[in-house]
Amino acid sequence: MLKPFFAQFFAFRPAHLHLAAHSHHPWPDLALQAHQEYAIDSIRAADHKWDKIFGQVLPEAQQHVVRQLGCDLADADRVTFAPNTAEFVARLYSAFEHVKAPIRVLTTDGEFHSFARITRRLEEVGKVTVTRVPVRPFATLNERLAESVRASKKSAPYDLIFFSHVLFESGYAIDPDFVLQACPEQSVIVLDGYHAFMARPINHRPLADRAFYMAGGYKYAMAGEGACWLYVPPAGDGLCPTNTGWFSDFVGLSGTQDRPVAYGPRGMRFFGATFDASGLYRFNAVQHWLSAQAIDTAAIHRHAHTLQGTFIDQLTANTALDQALARHHMLPLTTPRGNFCTFEMPDESQAVRLEAAIKAADVYIDRRDRRLRFGWGVYHDASDVDIAVERLSKAVSPSV
Ligand SMILES: Cc1ncc(COP(=O)(O)O)c(C=O)c1O
Repeated sequence: MLKPFFAQFFAFRPAHLHLAAHSHHPWPDLALQAHQEYAIDSIRAADHKWDKIFGQVLPEAQQHVVRQLGCDLADADRVTFAPNTAEFVARLYSAFEHVKAPIRVLTTDGEFHSFARITRRLEEVGKVTVTRVPVRPFATLNERLAESVRASKKSAPYDLIFFSHVLFESGYAIDPDFVLQACPEQSVIVLDGYHAFMARPINHRPLADRAFYMAGGYKYAMAGEGACWLYVPPAGDGLCPTNTGWFSDFVGLSGTQDRPVAYGPRGMRFFGATFDASGLYRFNAVQHWLSAQAIDTAAIHRHAHTLQGTFIDQLTANTALDQALARHHMLPLTTPRGNFCTFEMPDESQAVRLEAAIKAADVYIDRRDRRLRFGWGVYHDASDVDIAVERLSKAVSPSV
């Protein structure tokens, strides 16, 4: 689809087959120019680079984020940035610190470590009580989550409802509108959209008044690390995180600092402090490039799913690959999903062995416990499916 735009990536290891678009997406060539532009601005303008960052680069990135979220462009300034999503999670939790303890959290048992780890630790020290809805069976996950939300409306509402839009282990896409339709007013809602952002079209508009939406540049946005974003809904306007940075109240900095801590408006409320803005330069450059190519997220999603369909068909048609992989595919292709396929092995040692054999065949995938993930993206075409199947056949030969 857009393979020629990744020339530097392919030149580095021409024979290598990278199937981890869901993990670290390769950077298109133009990301290098954007990265250099940041360095040049930093060298030439020194302190004044922030004029450009806050006057031009950041507002543009905000526009791209809200456009990708399907929200109103007038709400672009509701988007804030941080180097990673763990920082946002810590900041969000800190908004409850002075309010009450323990706070009640509703989530799933399939959340990514950035949220799961902090949550477990807060649980250990008695600051949160957590209800984790099991993600399995997937077919009833939306209904079970929605039921927990509904039930809390009648009893004690959750303080925080946090779940992934697309789950990182399986790729299953939760339906946030359905889950949250009966959400109590008091609950703060946060969606982790890292595996949805630019993997599948998002329409956050129906929840834009209520729900935070968090994602970042490392995966499908092709912008690399160091740039994550958080959409702050009007429902978040009253929150006062204790984990706060001085960028949050830029306008108030020149005044006396002996008054109550103030927060900037809308997205600024959740801003941290000095950061490396190169990820935003890369993100903007990627967005420009995709627009120029007339490629939107729906097209990216279609492309990845077409390749996945052919891939699964070819695996199924091959007896050894069917046995080793295809029959372990976690989700039917018709399920609402992200852009990777996960094969769940019967046990972890089998998964480890198979992963090693696949890597030895020069195919890069990744593993989460006993799950092997294969991610497809715009830097692949149909010939990569054939190469993958050929190499995987070798990898699953009887010696494996
Ligand atoms: C669902 C999800 N959220 C967040 C992240 C990234 O977390 P962080 O930005 O804290 O490194 C990942 C990374 O794989 C993820 O899968």
